[in-house]
Amino acid sequence: IQLAMYDRLIVKDWSKFIEKITILFQNVQREVHEGKNADYIPELSTVDPELFSVSICTVDGQQFDIGDTDAEFSIQSASKPMLYSLALERYGPKYVHEYVGMEPSGAAFNSFTLNSENKPHNACINAGAIVVCGLMYPELSVAERFKKLNTEFSAFLGGEKAGFNQSVYLSEKDTAHRNKALSYFMASNGAFPKNVDIDETLDFYLQMCSIEVNSNQLAKVAATYANYGVCPTTGSTILSYDTVRRTAQLLFNCGMYDYSGRWANSTGLPAKSGVSGCLYIVVPGVLGMAVYSPRLASHGNTVRGIEFAHRAAETFGWNIF
Ligand code: DON
Repeated sequence: IQLAMYDRLIVKDWSKFIEKITILFQNVQREVHEGKNADYIPELSTVDPELFSVSICTVDGQQFDIGDTDAEFSIQSASKPMLYSLALERYGPKYVHEYVGMEPSGAAFNSFTLNSENKPHNACINAGAIVVCGLMYPELSVAERFKKLNTEFSAFLGGEKAGFNQSVYLSEKDTAHRNKALSYFMASNGAFPKNVDIDETLDFYLQMCSIEVNSNQLAKVAATYANYGVCPTTGSTILSYDTVRRTAQLLFNCGMYDYSGRWANSTGLPAKSGVSGCLYIVVPGVLGMAVYSPRLASHGNTVRGIEFAHRAAETFGWNIF
């Protein structure tokens, strides 16, 4: 309120802004119908492909939601940057990067590739996120580990407790052959610290992917990064500037998998997608935005999400360059 009184809000004309966002939303809803739900996790293939929502949270905490904003979805890979940030905060970049690289892999999110040091290329591909899961909370039991992660995630979500989608989790677990093979392939290459239980680690990773959120909550995650580590709606400092900077690098270079280069080239913003059809973008110092629409392109990114985020970035000049 104080910021508004003194006309210091980051978005000066809020009603004009949400009017433009609404028009963009309606245009994308009318024009974009390509892509299909992820089907390698059976539970995701049954979700209504028409669901579509957009949420925005500015660095001063102004919020706007449009579309199917009640729809909840499993967070999937959109959890990976938070996991990486939490690992950096807890164990420091030196230790974390003994186990995971910081380069784009140029390969699909679930590919079997390690870099020349036998580490996963980065913390955004499945291999990297599974290894980072193996670093987390070694002193805790499996039950406490999940509880801890869930609590730490909720600080990014404006202090709201995230849900958990049990059917997605069981469906993932049932069909996790590739992730399992990947985990053991990495274990055979010495990618995990000693004494890490591979099955427990994979299970922890699958649980993390099954955490359930809505677009409003995911916009707050993006807004926390945009606001340099302070959640705009609660005012609590969640991450150090150093962690935000490193995570933004990861988002910029690796957040959209093997589409990351094209995304950086066309839109130029840190972003992260998940196979449930979610996507968030970070506009540093300005706002965070989340889009949810389950239909995906071949690289695993939501088609409407990409189109909407791209059009919004063009309309408002958000490209960081
Ligand atoms: O491990 C998997 O394959 C999924 N639980 C997460 C992958 C994902 O979201 C990739 N996103 N585009």
